[in-house]
Amino acid sequence: MRIDIVTIFPEFFSVLDVSLLGRARQTGLIELGVHDLRDFTSDRHRTVDDTPYGGGAGMVMKPEPWGEALDGILDLSGTLGADAPVVIFPSPAGELFTQKLAQELAAEPQLVFGCGRYEGIDQRVVDYASTRARVRLVSLGDYVLNGGEVATMAMIEAIGRLIPGVVGNPQSLVEESHSDGLLEYPSYTKPGEWRGFEVPPVLLSGNHAAIAKWRHDQQLERTRAVRPDLLPPDLAVAEDAAPRA
Ligand code: ADE
Repeated sequence: MRIDIVTIFPEFFSVLDVSLLGRARQTGLIELGVHDLRDFTSDRHRTVDDTPYGGGAGMVMKPEPWGEALDGILDLSGTLGADAPVVIFPSPAGELFTQKLAQELAAEPQLVFGCGRYEGIDQRVVDYASTRARVRLVSLGDYVLNGGEVATMAMIEAIGRLIPGVVGNPQSLVEESHSDGLLEYPSYTKPGEWRGFEVPPVLLSGNHAAIAKWRHDQQLERTRAVRPDLLPPDLAVAEDAAPRA
């Protein structure tokens, strides 16, 4: 997969040199281009923002440097088909980033992340990019970050680890939180007893069916306790709960 990032803080992304994603880059599974938006300005001060039309607090990112940056990254000869690159603008006003969206994006050949700062990017940049690419505004959650960089990092990590070959043991992707719509069960390793806390005996029983049932029950219990919104309606009520009159 090819990933391009446009940002005024390219140094933010040096952490992509390390860990699993760093190795994926070395082995060629992920090809990364980080572009400094200021390199696409034409004034002495390398200006990327200006005051908003219509008034209001804060500054808005100017369209011209974004246009130049996107022109350099996107294939301008391409037609806007199903295979057009995906441009993601992280934004608290976007659709929610989920494991399902991460899975969808992990199958794309090219992703471009446009990291906004200040009060956002001039809307015409999004409109222009939509003529060259499949554009998505994506939010990490219902809170506001200072810019798109941290959101982009989180999305690249979530997407990158789903690219075949990036995570050594693909089974670990199957058993983790959100992969089956439920939160993950708790895990234990040796020793069997630590500071008075014991490993649940069923995990030492060797009874694989009992272990699978215990893990599934734990998933349901955890999800019901902290994320009931994730449960399908038929699982939302605990099995041992008294039936309603
Ligand atoms: N930029 C600022 N806040 C954000 C959020 N919650 N998600 C994605 N990008 C953002």
